[in-house]
Amino acid sequence: MKSLLSIYDLSAQEIWGIVSLAARLKSGRKKTAHLNGKSLGLIFEKPSTRTSVSFSVAMYELGGFPLMLDAKNLQRKRGESIYDTAQTLSRYLHGVVIRAFNHADVAEFASAAGIPVINGLTDQEHPCQILGDILTIAENKKIKTASALKKIKVAFVGDGNNVSYSLMASAAVMGFSFSMASPRGYEPGGRIVAKARDYAARSGAEIDIMASPQEAVRGADVIYTDVWTSMGAESELEKRKKAFKPYQVNRKLLEYAKPACIVMHCLPANRGEEATAEVLDGPRSVIFDQAENRLHIQKAILIHLLKDV
Ligand code: CP
Ligand code: NVA
Repeated sequence: MKSLLSIYDLSAQEIWGIVSLAARLKSGRKKTAHLNGKSLGLIFEKPSTRTSVSFSVAMYELGGFPLMLDAKNLQRKRGESIYDTAQTLSRYLHGVVIRAFNHADVAEFASAAGIPVINGLTDQEHPCQILGDILTIAENKKIKTASALKKIKVAFVGDGNNVSYSLMASAAVMGFSFSMASPRGYEPGGRIVAKARDYAARSGAEIDIMASPQEAVRGADVIYTDVWTSMGAESELEKRKKAFKPYQVNRKLLEYAKPACIVMHCLPANRGEEATAEVLDGPRSVIFDQAENRLHIQKAILIHLLKDV
């Protein structure tokens, strides 16, 4: 049973296959019968706009049925075990998307389920976001092959969080250069970086972790940022605002990157914090291409995982 909990669950070939399929589905967007008669559960412990709506519309347009489940209305909330929930839902559904606080809970669900489980964001990873972002990078940089993707440099400026971990993992698997700048105390964890470097040794990727945002974005084709305070860390809001202030993506920082560099953000964004409104709404920003591509990539992910279930 294939699940998608982490970028590392996919090979470089599979990632490029999913991205290419998404591009084809995007160019002829229509209702198809790829997943006729199949049902997808969507369990969300945290808010979502893009992930929940794009998966729901994707499932509908593939001929299937999306069932949105608010985690607080499931018996799990009253203490039913993950095992019993996963076993039960596997008798009704053909796949489940889960957005959860703890990555370990989604992993436990996946090992108890008899159906594919898709990570819709945890504290550790946001793989569907990053797969869609690879499509956005390929489109905007006119990249047609997986080997051409290896030539780009992506810089992440900000927090060692789910989005940056999946982005780093995608560089490690696909073989492109990745540099990341974070304030002290918010760097990516040692094990996260070690795993990425282990994969990078085989793919040819370069993984550089540093403190200076100017150094990180030097020569970059892509600058990526995300919120300073992720969902669930709200109690640290004020402390983080101070620590991350020098890490804002603004006009000045862009001067260190390539002139044709694009700016990415998974959204939702706080304009004036991690990036200025001028940059996020400016000509280099591709944030709404990213948001749109969530739909096309979800379709490709769903076909990849559910077509034989
Ligand atoms: N980028 C993203 O996952 O957005 P949502 O939280 O709105 O799903
Ligand atoms: N890092 C952010 C991503 C939101 C899509 C969070 O976890 O809140």
